[in-house]
Amino acid sequence: MKIPAVVSRLRTGESVELRSPDAADASAVLDFIRALSREASRNINHPPEFFEAMTVEAEASFLESCAAHPTNFFIAAFLGAAVVGTANISTSGASVSRHCAELGLGVLAMCREKGLGRRLMETLIENAQQNGVWNLQLRVRTFNEPAIALYDSLGFRRVGVLQRVAHLDDGFADEYVYQREGAASRLAPEAAHALHPTPNRTSERERR
Ligand SMILES: CC(C)(COP(=O)(O)OP(=O)(O)OC[C@H]1O[C@@H](n2cnc3c(N)ncnc32)[C@H](O)[C@@H]1OP(=O)(O)O)[C@@H](O)C(=O)NCCC(=O)NCCS
Repeated sequence: MKIPAVVSRLRTGESVELRSPDAADASAVLDFIRALSREASRNINHPPEFFEAMTVEAEASFLESCAAHPTNFFIAAFLGAAVVGTANISTSGASVSRHCAELGLGVLAMCREKGLGRRLMETLIENAQQNGVWNLQLRVRTFNEPAIALYDSLGFRRVGVLQRVAHLDDGFADEYVYQREGAASRLAPEAAHALHPTPNRTSERERR
């Protein structure tokens, strides 16, 4: 799905536009993720080479699939033509867990500590909740203090720790599992209809 565009003012007075990117924004989104992977590789799931190998066409196709999905969405923060932050949710494929989603978040170093990460998260939570996705989950490395402080302040609860799950250059890192439960809300009828699984459309992994 696509979320409506909103303009938000950062603490510095700069204006950013938060919206779901179109396929035409794929190049800007790819530039963003490549820059983030160089700056914050210890906090994300793939090294810079992974993102260097991605194509604009593949990114455009990913953005189109997010826009077409009934509940998944992707939000980009545009400062002028450049993407400086993103947040996204991916809902579970299981029929019994359609109210659950995993989220991702990142802001470029030049725009950090200006309120953008919080604004992206608030926009994500609000849009997810309105669409019946009220149980949000994430994993964060135990050393990622800025992200942990942000999640704590937004009502996420630490529900566990996964040990030695991230193989980084200097060894294995643990990750906390966080969860945020909003008030139970219902999927929009059209989303529920679009998600109705048929055995032919449901992968083997999702059937279990
Ligand atoms: C985590 C991240 C998204 C925060 O973005 P941001 O734009 O700097 O966040 P904000 O300016 O909105 O700050 C929100 C809160 O985060 C926390 N925070 C931000 N920077 C912090 C820092 N350097 N140290 C401690 N807490 C910090 C504070 O609780 C802050 O609260 P405030 O609003 O009262 O100031 C950003 O640091 C980032 O993209 N890091 C690299 C990628 C990453 O780690 N993603 C998350 C993976 S799970």
